[in-house]
Amino acid sequence: MSSGRIPRNIPVMTIIPSSVLRLWPIASIGADVALLCFTAFILALLPYFGLRRNLVDKDGHPIPPGPLLRYPFLRRYPEKPLFRWAKQYGPLHSVWMGNQLFVVMNDPHVARDLLVTHGANFSGRWGYFMKNQTILSGRALTASPYNETWRKHRKIAMSVLNPKAALGYADGIDYETHMFLRSLHRTSRDGSAPVDPASFAGRYALNNMLAVAFGTRTLSTSDPLVDEAIRLGMEFMDLTGPWTNMIDFVKPLQWIPTRARYRARRLHSDFLSVYGAMINRVKARLDAGEQVSDCLVKTLLETQESEKLSWEDMCFIVIAFTTGGVHSTSGIIEWFLALIPSYPHIQAKAHEELDRVIGREQWPTSEDESKLPYCRAIIKEVLRAHAPFWMGTPHCSEEDFVYNGYFIPKNTVMVLNVYALHHNEDRYKDPWTFNPDRYLGDSLNASESSKLGDPFLRDHWAFGAGRRICPGMVVAERELWLAISRLLWSFSFSEVPGEPITLAQYEGLSGRTPLPYRINITPRHDGVLDILAEREEIAMRE
Ligand code: HEM
Ligand SMILES: *[C@@H]1O[C@H](CO)[C@@H](O)[C@H](O)[C@H]1NC(C)=O
Ligand SMILES: *[C@@H]1O[C@H](CO)[C@@H](O)[C@H](O)[C@H]1NC(C)=O
Ligand SMILES: *[C@@H]1O[C@H](CO)[C@@H](O)[C@H](O)[C@H]1NC(C)=O
Ligand SMILES: *[C@@H]1O[C@H](CO)[C@@H](O)[C@H](O)[C@H]1NC(C)=O
Repeated sequence: MSSGRIPRNIPVMTIIPSSVLRLWPIASIGADVALLCFTAFILALLPYFGLRRNLVDKDGHPIPPGPLLRYPFLRRYPEKPLFRWAKQYGPLHSVWMGNQLFVVMNDPHVARDLLVTHGANFSGRWGYFMKNQTILSGRALTASPYNETWRKHRKIAMSVLNPKAALGYADGIDYETHMFLRSLHRTSRDGSAPVDPASFAGRYALNNMLAVAFGTRTLSTSDPLVDEAIRLGMEFMDLTGPWTNMIDFVKPLQWIPTRARYRARRLHSDFLSVYGAMINRVKARLDAGEQVSDCLVKTLLETQESEKLSWEDMCFIVIAFTTGGVHSTSGIIEWFLALIPSYPHIQAKAHEELDRVIGREQWPTSEDESKLPYCRAIIKEVLRAHAPFWMGTPHCSEEDFVYNGYFIPKNTVMVLNVYALHHNEDRYKDPWTFNPDRYLGDSLNASESSKLGDPFLRDHWAFGAGRRICPGMVVAERELWLAISRLLWSFSFSEVPGEPITLAQYEGLSGRTPLPYRINITPRHDGVLDILAEREEIAMRE
């Protein structure tokens, strides 16, 4: 791309963080040389800042409208400026991040037209320095370019995530909900002590993914793998915000030793060593002729040669599960538990439905889902009001394209504005109110809903859209159903006096989770204790 006109009036100094300046090796070289280098560095930065470039294609189509300035990064809560711009510029707008053009889809029809109808053009991923190049080295499905290798890896992932395979995990997930609720209840000392549910929800989601990926599980929240996996997941969510890393947009920063670059390289090697070692353990068991239950890693090892999978390919396919599939699912459970204490009337309505349909002798199962529309509606409403990824995972355009008279150049980052879609007043009445009633009468599951002819009627966009739509959707919905319907069946939830829970702030710059909080959970009746006592923690192997 040509660099266009460079306005000189932007105070570049103010946008270089002091951490970068401190790293500059001034002491080790002569002052003149240092000054020269520094000036050269500043000049190298200039093309990345200034006013937007209003590109037009050869037929004079302009790029979609958008804000006047270019941005080196958007700070915390980027959904806020994006929501304002959506209101100001309409269904499709553009933003320049340094030299990189972003196009933001704010309307369900536009999102469908581009990501689904023209999916062949809009299913790439952009080569983010942090997420793609450094942490995932162009792998883990989510960072793979849209090519044959992605297709092959996605097929392998789908082979263990499709609805039929998901049925095979039904018993495992059922068992994990027992252990999740049991450990929560124990820690609450039968409802007498407040609990922070995060690590319990985290272990629930992690165990489900360990079962799918390795055919194994952790035995308690004090297993070091729980902390390690959750820490790596959190680090990933902090380092891969689609808007927040200046280093992604300002190339010269990639050449110098910054803390961001260090953390990204570190995460890359931690990922490989933690999950690589786990793959090796399965391999050793297979080599020793042991019985290994069907799981992703077994499939990978068995098809390694025929599918030409490298060691890094295998590690990162596994990491797609332990990273993509853990934080997101546990995040929704954490959001649910953070908000439900504030809604006694919603709890009462769910409890009434559960008592009427299921009774107190047994708890809800997967088969009961269609009979409990209000509980289902609560889950959909949590996914709407607290989608973990407010910006989805950006796609990337493969070729120049003209849409409704607007030019979208090749290699543009395409952002699904989930935050704006979920707060669209025409689609969701009072969008800022948490109100499950809006989903009563919607009996479709997430994958059916994503295929509706009219995208305006889709339940929500939490799982993305098009050819890259979340492949874990079916398993995630099953996990969420069993965990949340059983939490509702078992407990009443209340705030800890003097500890208000804030939902407006959150952790994570790509996948969001609530700030740490504690709640009181009280068993609703004696049947709860009987059911929780039915099953014990077991090791799944060895
Ligand atoms: C509530 C839970 C979950 C949410 C909200 C969620 C959300 C998302 C979103 C928004 C995307 C990007 C879609 C797009 O590019 O348009 C995605 C992709 C992905 N998700 Fe999930 N996800 C969840 C659970 C899971 C689970 C359980 C897995 C299990 C393996 C998983 C694995 C993946 C993978 C591998 C991708 C990348 C797909 C690709 O680029 O082809 N996710 N997810
Ligand atoms: C992209 O869109 C253009 C115009 O609709 C079409 O001609 C082209 O084949 C598409 N590219 C791909 C890779 O499908
Ligand atoms: C992502 O990074 C990998 C490894 O650095 C690179 O081969 C690939 O081309 C990058 N993808 C894109 C879309 O730039
Ligand atoms: C797809 O892209 C990845 C990452 O750049 C690359 O390693 C791989 O060789 C590509 N696959 C094909 C079939 O071109
Ligand atoms: C979604 O609903 C369809 C139709 O009712 C069904 O065939 C499919 O198995 C359901 N998927 C899940 C994951 O429940």
